[in-house]
Amino acid sequence: MTEPDRDWWRSAVVFQVWPRSFCDSDGDGIGDINGITARLEHLERLGVDVLWLSPIYRSPHRDFGYDISDYQALDPLFGTLDDFDRLVGALHDRGMKLVMDLVVNHTSDQHSWFLESRSSVTNPKRDWYWWRPARPGVEPGTPGAEPTNWRGFFSQPTWTLDPTTGEYYLHLFTPEQPDLNWDYPEVRAAIYEMMRWWLDRGVDGFRMDVINLISKAPELADGPPIAGTVLGDGWDGYANGPRLHDYLQEMHREVFADRPGTWMTVGEMPGVTVDLAREVTDPARRELDMVFHFEHMSVDRGVDRFDVRPFDLRSLKDVFGRWQAGLADAGWNSLYWSNHDQPRAVSRFGDDGRYWRESATALAVALHLLRGTPYVYQGEELGMTNHHITSLDDVRDVESLNYYAASVAAGRAPSEVLAAIDEAGRDNARTPMQWDASEHAGFTCGTPWMPVNPNHVWLNATNQYEDPSSVFSIYRALIELRHRCPTVVHGTCEMLLPDHPHIYAYTRRLETQELLVVANFSATEQALPFDTSWALRPIVLGNYCGVSESNSGERLATLRSWEARVYER
Ligand code: NOJ
Repeated sequence: MTEPDRDWWRSAVVFQVWPRSFCDSDGDGIGDINGITARLEHLERLGVDVLWLSPIYRSPHRDFGYDISDYQALDPLFGTLDDFDRLVGALHDRGMKLVMDLVVNHTSDQHSWFLESRSSVTNPKRDWYWWRPARPGVEPGTPGAEPTNWRGFFSQPTWTLDPTTGEYYLHLFTPEQPDLNWDYPEVRAAIYEMMRWWLDRGVDGFRMDVINLISKAPELADGPPIAGTVLGDGWDGYANGPRLHDYLQEMHREVFADRPGTWMTVGEMPGVTVDLAREVTDPARRELDMVFHFEHMSVDRGVDRFDVRPFDLRSLKDVFGRWQAGLADAGWNSLYWSNHDQPRAVSRFGDDGRYWRESATALAVALHLLRGTPYVYQGEELGMTNHHITSLDDVRDVESLNYYAASVAAGRAPSEVLAAIDEAGRDNARTPMQWDASEHAGFTCGTPWMPVNPNHVWLNATNQYEDPSSVFSIYRALIELRHRCPTVVHGTCEMLLPDHPHIYAYTRRLETQELLVVANFSATEQALPFDTSWALRPIVLGNYCGVSESNSGERLATLRSWEARVYER
């Protein structure tokens, strides 16, 4: 019997579905599981290997599914376990795998564990969550009485007073998302059992939400004050805590180690450094296969995600260069431009006007041929763009709504805050998938829960499938190249031209094969400072039609607006 390929995820490409906005099969205006199953042909055409499914569990949807009230039941909005089993079967029949979102730093406040925990200080589940009395000497419920001064991810204090017992509980996100106490062994055992239950059901791995927040520094100490607020930065208290590695190793032992088969695990880790990521993803340590870092998501941001700054290609190259070098010998990178928490990549790093197609495809080329596993977020493969909001009524996401409330309360002009949300908010990623030019873009026959971007009349999947120069076709070609070319998967990577303000370039090398990837991140033509020995080499892929036919030294000399090319020698 041949050994299963344990590292299959190294040559895989992952497609993320955010189910609410992917495809609605029953006309209620909200995407669902049967809608996903009905659209698997899209994934198959694209050639991806894995579907990462954002949460479909039972949830009050305070944070659109990242607040789970039952880990082993599906939300009726999305369908039934039978629908789910059919989706898994249909994926496996097509040779694809399914990775579930695992949200175990916190639950919903409606989860039975939390309902029990909050019911009394002596309840056996009391310690499953973080409970603390008010700060000594301060009246509970008054400002400043919170046990620590931490500000949460969504512009609020991280503690809420629960009147039932007069104590505060910890929540790094909304008050409806209480943090589980991983230091309590029964919590970990319950989570591992639940993970095994999903694996028994046929899933192929997990994407682990904010997994570096599960271990907290036990003393829960105040953090340094944050300018302009009364709150403090609790990062050192709640992130990358002292038992993170122990818990990840224990999870590996308890859930994966003795199970026949192969899995993929990827941990979302805000604020992770290259060094920590190398430890966590070093196969010898048996923690996770890869992590999501956020460094490239900060190159165009100031103090927070809504503080938008101009983007300088040199910083982006610096980030990618450090991560490629840092995980070259041990560990593994995940590669992404977008997900359900980020604005659309082409609107953010590219040009969603005149050079929409060229820049969406240049971004794809620049990312996909790096060493690591690429992730494609629904609609990215079509070059979907940000949608524009004109009033607070258009905003659906709790992060943006809280940010608006906190900023306006602090005296900022509402129009200015709305403009920041328009550009940087998560709703940009969450407009319905654009399948075709019909009224609701083929997403639903009902009323979509969130308006479809009006540009779906021309920007849609149906328009792109047969067009060889479309964004979809370039993504497909990149995925196909990864599958057939071991250099893309295993080759070493060297970033070039770190100081060039407009050209993104790197080489990949494996044995005798070398690839040169070049992309112009600007609308103006750029001279290419490369030795002409590359010039007569075949172009494996390019985003300008016909580029492969005109492969002469002359063509290497310059790159047109947002042009990207891949040479081989
Ligand atoms: C990260 C998820 O990607 C995001 O959507 C969510 O709001 C937070 N974690 C909290 O679960």
